[in-house]
Amino acid sequence: MAEFTKDRKTIFSGAQPSGNLTIGNYLGALKNWQLLQDDYNCIYCVVDMHAITVRQTPAELRKRSLETLAVYMACGIDPAKVVFFIQSHVPGHTQLSWVLSCSTMFGELSRMTQFKDKSAKHADNINAGLFTYPVLMAADILLYNADLVPVGSDQKQHIELARDIAQRFNQAYSPTFTVPEGYISKSSARIMSLSDPERKMSKSDPNPQSFVSILDPKDEIIKKFKRAVTDSESIVRLDPNRPGISNLINIYCAFTSKTPEECEKEFEGRGYGDFKLAVGEACADTLTKIQDKYNTYISDKAQLDKILSEGAAQANYIANKTISKVYRKVGFYAKPEVK
Ligand code: TYM
Repeated sequence: MAEFTKDRKTIFSGAQPSGNLTIGNYLGALKNWQLLQDDYNCIYCVVDMHAITVRQTPAELRKRSLETLAVYMACGIDPAKVVFFIQSHVPGHTQLSWVLSCSTMFGELSRMTQFKDKSAKHADNINAGLFTYPVLMAADILLYNADLVPVGSDQKQHIELARDIAQRFNQAYSPTFTVPEGYISKSSARIMSLSDPERKMSKSDPNPQSFVSILDPKDEIIKKFKRAVTDSESIVRLDPNRPGISNLINIYCAFTSKTPEECEKEFEGRGYGDFKLAVGEACADTLTKIQDKYNTYISDKAQLDKILSEGAAQANYIANKTISKVYRKVGFYAKPEVK
């Protein structure tokens, strides 16, 4: 069980169990979660409540929530160092979300690009949850007074909103929340789709060729990189006008810890075929190790349940303290202790 110390700053982050986590999730977020776990009090959540803003198959959502925890652990994030839990196990998230929604403006939520993108994609289900999603996300972060939030760049706008909400609340009711900072790594902040490199790689993309899942088998990974959309120039060089090859270079560098210059040198005079194979091999090398660990963790449901139960107890303890404070500050009458 994780033991938090007062001299360390707090980190909160989460991923939706709305599909199998991809190398975008790994390189943009999970890898950093792992790197930060020794220096911060880290709280990592499976945000199942966010996932139902888009229609999910209930049995699959349930299954994927546990699988997501096993993936977190397989990526080297250690339950002895961090708090893991499932969002719906801590009622404080929705309790705080309501209070914060009264400090969030309609206009602010209307400007969120993720809301615009998702409403376009799911035109038959533009529900209120999709619209107020960023308020729940602000509640996730502010509930634990997180200082730092490691995410990919697609979440930057949501974190800026969480900061604005925190500041607005603090001004209206006296200092209550820590104003959080985003932690976004430079080169892998936005891993792009393999079939359309102008778009972000996404676990919920209906085209499985567009993403590599952390749990994809090696031959599948190699095939997906071989088919990745690039241009006709065949020169391995970072170039903002050639998003396909630039994306592959970023992925290769992230998996090999090489710089783009080293990569360009290594593949000078060689075609895209060679390079794509090397990217696939480098990615598969890392993912196979993660998959071995995943298979061990997912086969021990009792252990995963124990981690979730302890994590929920720790998260609820912190969350309840924040909720009591917030309820008092906004003027809710204290619940009488009746014997
Ligand atoms: P989600 O589930 O879409 O993604 C989880 C994390 O992975 C990052 N990510 C990427 N990074 C680089 N390239 C990509 N192609 C890519 N795709 C995803 C995301 O930025 C994220 O860090 N709203 C969040 C979940 C959430 C959350 C929170 C995060 C809910 N509450 C509080 C932080 C703090 C989301 O949908 O992530």
